[in-house]
Amino acid sequence: MHNLCRNKKKSLKNAEIRCLICQHAFMFERMVIFWMLCWSCLAAPEPVERHAAQLRVLLQQADAAYYNSGNPIMGDAAYDALRVQYEKLRTDYPELPALSGVGVVAPEDGGKIAHTEPVLSLKKAYTDDEVESFIGRCGREKNYCVEPKLDGLTVVLRYQNGLLVQALTRGDGKQGSDVTTAVMASGCVPVRLANAPESLELRGEMLMSFSAFDALNKRRAQEGLTQLKSPRNSAAGSLRLKDLAEVARRGLQVRIFEVIDSEPVWPTHTAALAQVATLGLPVVESRTVTGAGVLQVLAEMNLRRGDSNFPTDGLVIRLNDRAEFERIGATAKYPRGAIARKYRAVPVETTLLRIEWTKGDSGRLTPIAHFEPVEVDGATLQRASLHSLDHLRALDLMLGDRIEVVRAGGSVPEILGRCSGLRTGREKAIPDPE
Ligand code: IVH
Repeated sequence: MHNLCRNKKKSLKNAEIRCLICQHAFMFERMVIFWMLCWSCLAAPEPVERHAAQLRVLLQQADAAYYNSGNPIMGDAAYDALRVQYEKLRTDYPELPALSGVGVVAPEDGGKIAHTEPVLSLKKAYTDDEVESFIGRCGREKNYCVEPKLDGLTVVLRYQNGLLVQALTRGDGKQGSDVTTAVMASGCVPVRLANAPESLELRGEMLMSFSAFDALNKRRAQEGLTQLKSPRNSAAGSLRLKDLAEVARRGLQVRIFEVIDSEPVWPTHTAALAQVATLGLPVVESRTVTGAGVLQVLAEMNLRRGDSNFPTDGLVIRLNDRAEFERIGATAKYPRGAIARKYRAVPVETTLLRIEWTKGDSGRLTPIAHFEPVEVDGATLQRASLHSLDHLRALDLMLGDRIEVVRAGGSVPEILGRCSGLRTGREKAIPDPE
């Protein structure tokens, strides 16, 4: 007797079905086809499977944070909404696993995934003349968008049928790391969009605001942890954390600055950003002007740069017409239809108070300069690394000196040197490290 019959003898008999293999080849085919159809009908589409898996990880982490550490990563309403979302998916796709009990599931190590289009960089302009010649090349009569150049890290977001199915870092521009779970945990973009196009690919900047960064460092100080260097590094580091509760707590934000793939195709960058905003996604602030008005808008936005709670390191100017932007193409590195006007860091004056020596893992001593607190670009600065003893000596500093401080790249505090002018005579030599 055939295996199938032997194993299922009883039920086959009960159902008055005899061995399909031995008796009737035609019936066997029908049975196999029947089962094959069943399996393929029951399997959820891949984006749904992936979305469900992300929701499960997030819910399990939320459970663990709530029950194990007593430190919830989200409010009850957000938790319930995610659970309802999962149960709704399970109604449509009953083969998805039921939500299990409490326990931490570490996210998979993000593998490298190919970008649909290379993620290019922006050509930099350090003078208004360079901006003028960019506009001359593209056309003075054309419309341009002027936006803050946000200083975080690029993330590429893919939505399918309104579900966030993938989030990638820029990586080398051709391939990025999978950071979907961390992006979902951060809560910085909706995981589900209503009335979204079937397929939507977006690029944006993942950011940590100055206030979130200060709060994070304050909490770390209380926990006896080292201070993080800058909002930019902290945003990048946060996406690599395995502890999703911590990711959720860090207050990460995203601002979308580019729409890659959409149906319908929105004709202008302005329209694309506006549509994406109506879907509930946070977009970058963007002003539209003709070529003749760009420098004026640059000057205005430059004056307001200190108002932003986000680190910025310049302004982006880009052609508004998307077809035109595509038509003029790109070099291997940069699109020809956009340019970044970099800010020149504005130094502020303060007084050097003391030097702290910190010892790195290698045992090397690094001098950290502490100075009277100063406000720069919306953040209070009071210390800066001087990198090495050689660097400290080269600056020829004394305690009590008036010094010039900048936020290099819009974020990391840096001492440029001593202010010109005579010393008062009350300055003191810097003591050698103990
Ligand atoms: S547009 C095709 N707009 O700057 C390139 N980029 O140096 C389109 N960035 O990788 C980029 N704010 O991460 C654009 N408003 C903005 C931006 C912005 C920040 C970053 C982005 C990009 C890098 C280029």
